[in-house]
Amino acid sequence: MPDSSAIYPGSFDPVTNGHVDIIERGLRVFDRIVVAVLKNPKKATLFTTKERVRMIQDLFASKKEVEVRAFDGLLVDFAKAQGTNVVIRGLRAISDFEYEFQMALMNRSLAPDIETFFMMPSVNYSFLSSNLVREVAALGGSVEGLVPGPVARRLRQKLGGSKKSPKSIKAG
Ligand SMILES: Nc1ncnc2c1ncn2[C@@H]1O[C@H](COP(=O)(O)OP(=O)(O)OP(=O)(O)O)[C@@H](O)[C@H]1O
Ligand SMILES: [Mg+2]
Repeated sequence: MPDSSAIYPGSFDPVTNGHVDIIERGLRVFDRIVVAVLKNPKKATLFTTKERVRMIQDLFASKKEVEVRAFDGLLVDFAKAQGTNVVIRGLRAISDFEYEFQMALMNRSLAPDIETFFMMPSVNYSFLSSNLVREVAALGGSVEGLVPGPVARRLRQKLGGSKKSPKSIKAG
Protein backbone atom coordinates (compact mmCIF):
# COMPACT_ATOMS: atom_id res chain seq x y z
CA MET A 1 0.00 0.00 0.00
CA PRO A 2 1.43 3.42 -0.89
CA ASP A 3 2.22 5.83 1.94
CA SER A 4 -0.63 8.10 2.93
CA SER A 5 0.13 11.76 3.25
CA ALA A 6 -1.49 15.05 4.13
CA ILE A 7 -0.61 18.70 4.10
CA TYR A 8 -1.13 20.89 7.17
CA PRO A 9 -1.12 24.56 6.17
CA GLY A 10 -1.03 27.66 8.34
CA SER A 11 0.97 30.72 9.21
CA PHE A 12 2.52 29.20 12.35
CA ASP A 13 3.55 32.64 13.67
CA PRO A 14 4.77 31.01 15.85
CA VAL A 15 3.99 27.29 16.09
CA THR A 16 2.04 26.58 19.32
CA ASN A 17 1.32 23.48 21.36
CA GLY A 18 -2.07 23.41 19.60
CA HIS A 19 -0.34 23.02 16.22
CA VAL A 20 2.01 20.37 17.66
CA ASP A 21 -1.01 18.49 19.03
CA ILE A 22 -2.68 18.47 15.60
CA ILE A 23 0.53 17.30 13.87
CA GLU A 24 0.95 14.46 16.38
CA ARG A 25 -2.68 13.40 15.99
CA GLY A 26 -2.28 13.61 12.23
CA LEU A 27 0.68 11.22 12.41
CA ARG A 28 -1.64 8.58 13.88
CA VAL A 29 -3.64 8.71 10.65
CA PHE A 30 -1.13 9.61 7.94
CA ASP A 31 2.34 8.23 7.19
CA ARG A 32 3.69 11.63 6.13
CA ILE A 33 2.67 15.17 6.99
CA VAL A 34 3.88 18.20 5.08
CA VAL A 35 3.58 21.26 7.28
CA ALA A 36 3.07 24.12 4.83
CA VAL A 37 4.07 27.52 6.17
CA LEU A 38 2.31 30.34 4.39
CA LYS A 39 4.46 33.14 3.02
CA ASN A 40 1.89 35.87 3.27
CA PRO A 41 3.01 39.20 1.91
CA LYS A 42 -0.34 40.74 2.86
CA LYS A 43 -0.03 39.91 6.54
CA ALA A 44 2.78 41.29 8.70
CA THR A 45 4.21 38.42 10.69
CA LEU A 46 6.27 38.52 13.87
CA PHE A 47 8.64 35.80 12.61
CA THR A 48 10.00 35.62 9.07
CA THR A 49 8.99 32.69 6.88
CA LYS A 50 12.44 31.18 7.38
CA GLU A 51 12.17 31.45 11.16
CA ARG A 52 8.67 29.95 11.20
CA VAL A 53 9.82 27.01 9.06
CA ARG A 54 12.96 26.49 11.12
CA MET A 55 11.16 26.40 14.48
CA ILE A 56 8.85 23.60 13.28
CA GLN A 57 11.76 21.72 11.66
CA ASP A 58 13.69 21.83 14.91
CA LEU A 59 10.74 20.52 16.92
CA PHE A 60 10.27 17.54 14.61
CA ALA A 61 13.94 16.99 13.78
CA SER A 62 13.73 13.37 14.92
CA LYS A 63 10.57 12.60 12.92
CA LYS A 64 11.30 12.08 9.27
CA GLU A 65 7.54 11.70 8.64
CA VAL A 66 7.15 15.44 9.21
CA GLU A 67 8.36 17.72 6.42
CA VAL A 68 8.19 21.48 6.63
CA ARG A 69 7.96 23.70 3.54
CA ALA A 70 7.15 27.33 2.85
CA PHE A 71 4.50 28.01 0.24
CA ASP A 72 2.53 30.76 -1.43
CA GLY A 73 -0.22 30.77 -4.01
CA LEU A 74 -3.16 28.41 -4.01
CA LEU A 75 -3.08 25.74 -1.33
CA VAL A 76 -4.69 23.15 -3.59
CA ASP A 77 -1.91 23.62 -6.17
CA PHE A 78 0.76 23.28 -3.51
CA ALA A 79 -0.93 20.16 -2.11
CA LYS A 80 -0.88 18.54 -5.56
CA ALA A 81 2.73 19.57 -6.09
CA GLN A 82 3.56 17.80 -2.81
CA GLY A 83 1.81 14.66 -4.04
CA THR A 84 -1.04 14.71 -1.55
CA ASN A 85 -4.80 15.15 -1.79
CA VAL A 86 -5.60 15.66 1.89
CA VAL A 87 -5.53 18.96 3.75
CA ILE A 88 -5.51 18.82 7.55
CA ARG A 89 -7.03 21.67 9.52
CA GLY A 90 -7.46 22.07 13.25
CA LEU A 91 -10.81 23.01 14.74
CA ARG A 92 -10.86 25.02 17.94
CA ALA A 93 -13.89 25.78 20.05
CA ILE A 94 -16.50 27.53 17.89
CA SER A 95 -14.22 30.22 16.47
CA ASP A 96 -12.77 28.27 13.55
CA PHE A 97 -15.93 26.70 12.23
CA GLU A 98 -17.36 29.27 9.85
CA TYR A 99 -14.07 30.27 8.22
CA GLU A 100 -12.91 26.67 7.91
CA PHE A 101 -16.23 25.61 6.41
CA GLN A 102 -15.91 28.35 3.77
CA MET A 103 -12.28 27.50 2.97
CA ALA A 104 -12.93 23.78 2.72
CA LEU A 105 -15.79 24.30 0.27
CA MET A 106 -13.81 26.84 -1.75
CA ASN A 107 -10.87 24.44 -1.99
CA ARG A 108 -13.28 21.69 -3.03
CA SER A 109 -14.69 23.83 -5.80
CA LEU A 110 -11.14 24.65 -6.97
CA ALA A 111 -9.95 21.04 -6.73
CA PRO A 112 -12.69 18.41 -6.25
CA ASP A 113 -10.13 15.65 -5.69
CA ILE A 114 -8.74 17.28 -2.54
CA GLU A 115 -10.36 16.46 0.79
CA THR A 116 -10.15 18.57 3.95
CA PHE A 117 -9.67 16.59 7.12
CA PHE A 118 -10.57 18.31 10.43
CA MET A 119 -9.05 17.37 13.74
CA MET A 120 -9.90 18.57 17.26
CA PRO A 121 -6.99 19.37 19.55
CA SER A 122 -6.73 18.42 23.19
CA VAL A 123 -9.22 20.45 25.23
CA ASN A 124 -6.21 22.22 26.81
CA TYR A 125 -5.44 23.88 23.50
CA SER A 126 -8.95 24.51 22.28
CA PHE A 127 -8.73 28.23 22.93
CA LEU A 128 -5.08 28.72 22.00
CA SER A 129 -4.00 30.79 19.01
CA SER A 130 -0.68 32.17 17.75
CA ASN A 131 -2.20 35.62 18.00
CA LEU A 132 -2.88 35.16 21.71
CA VAL A 133 0.66 33.89 22.22
CA ARG A 134 2.11 36.93 20.40
CA GLU A 135 0.03 39.31 22.50
CA VAL A 136 0.91 37.68 25.82
CA ALA A 137 4.61 37.51 24.91
CA ALA A 138 4.68 41.13 23.70
CA LEU A 139 3.26 42.22 27.04
CA GLY A 140 5.95 40.27 28.87
CA GLY A 141 3.61 37.48 30.07
CA SER A 142 4.59 33.83 30.35
CA VAL A 143 3.77 31.57 27.42
CA GLU A 144 4.87 28.44 29.25
CA GLY A 145 2.56 25.54 28.44
CA LEU A 146 1.28 27.35 25.34
CA VAL A 147 4.30 26.88 23.07
CA PRO A 148 7.24 24.44 23.09
CA GLY A 149 10.22 25.64 25.18
CA PRO A 150 12.46 26.58 22.22
CA VAL A 151 9.64 28.70 20.77
CA ALA A 152 9.18 30.50 24.10
CA ARG A 153 12.91 31.30 24.02
CA ARG A 154 12.68 32.65 20.44
CA LEU A 155 9.75 34.83 21.50
CA ARG A 156 11.75 36.27 24.39
CA GLN A 157 14.70 36.95 22.04
CA LYS A 158 12.43 38.60 19.51
CA LEU A 159 10.42 40.69 21.91
CA GLY A 160 12.99 41.07 24.66
CA GLY A 161 10.21 41.33 27.22
CA SER A 162 9.43 44.79 25.85
CA LYS A 163 5.88 46.01 25.95
CA LYS A 164 5.55 46.97 22.31
CA SER A 165 2.20 46.17 20.78
CA PRO A 166 2.24 43.14 18.48
CA LYS A 167 0.30 45.23 15.97
CA SER A 168 3.27 47.56 15.55
CA ILE A 169 5.57 44.71 14.59
CA LYS A 170 6.69 44.81 10.99
CA ALA A 171 7.15 41.83 8.71
CA GLY A 172 10.64 40.41 8.30
N1 LIG B 1 -4.80 25.50 19.35
C1 LIG B 1 -5.13 24.92 18.21
N2 LIG B 1 -5.80 23.77 18.20
C2 LIG B 1 -6.18 23.20 17.04
N3 LIG B 1 -5.96 23.71 15.83
C3 LIG B 1 -5.29 24.85 15.78
C4 LIG B 1 -4.84 25.52 16.95
N4 LIG B 1 -4.20 26.66 16.57
C5 LIG B 1 -4.27 26.68 15.23
N5 LIG B 1 -4.92 25.62 14.75
C6 LIG B 1 -5.21 25.28 13.37
O1 LIG B 1 -3.99 25.20 12.67
C7 LIG B 1 -4.15 25.69 11.34
C8 LIG B 1 -3.16 26.79 11.10
O2 LIG B 1 -3.43 27.82 12.00
P1 LIG B 1 -2.68 29.19 12.03
O3 LIG B 1 -1.25 29.00 11.73
O4 LIG B 1 -3.46 30.21 11.31
O5 LIG B 1 -2.76 29.46 13.63
P2 LIG B 1 -3.60 30.51 14.43
O6 LIG B 1 -3.40 30.14 15.87
O7 LIG B 1 -5.00 30.62 13.94
O8 LIG B 1 -2.81 31.84 14.11
P3 LIG B 1 -3.31 33.36 14.24
O9 LIG B 1 -3.74 33.53 15.65
O10 LIG B 1 -2.09 34.13 13.85
O11 LIG B 1 -4.44 33.50 13.27
C9 LIG B 1 -5.62 26.07 11.25
O12 LIG B 1 -6.33 24.95 10.76
C10 LIG B 1 -6.01 26.35 12.66
O13 LIG B 1 -7.40 26.17 12.86
MG1 LIG C 1 -5.94 32.11 12.86
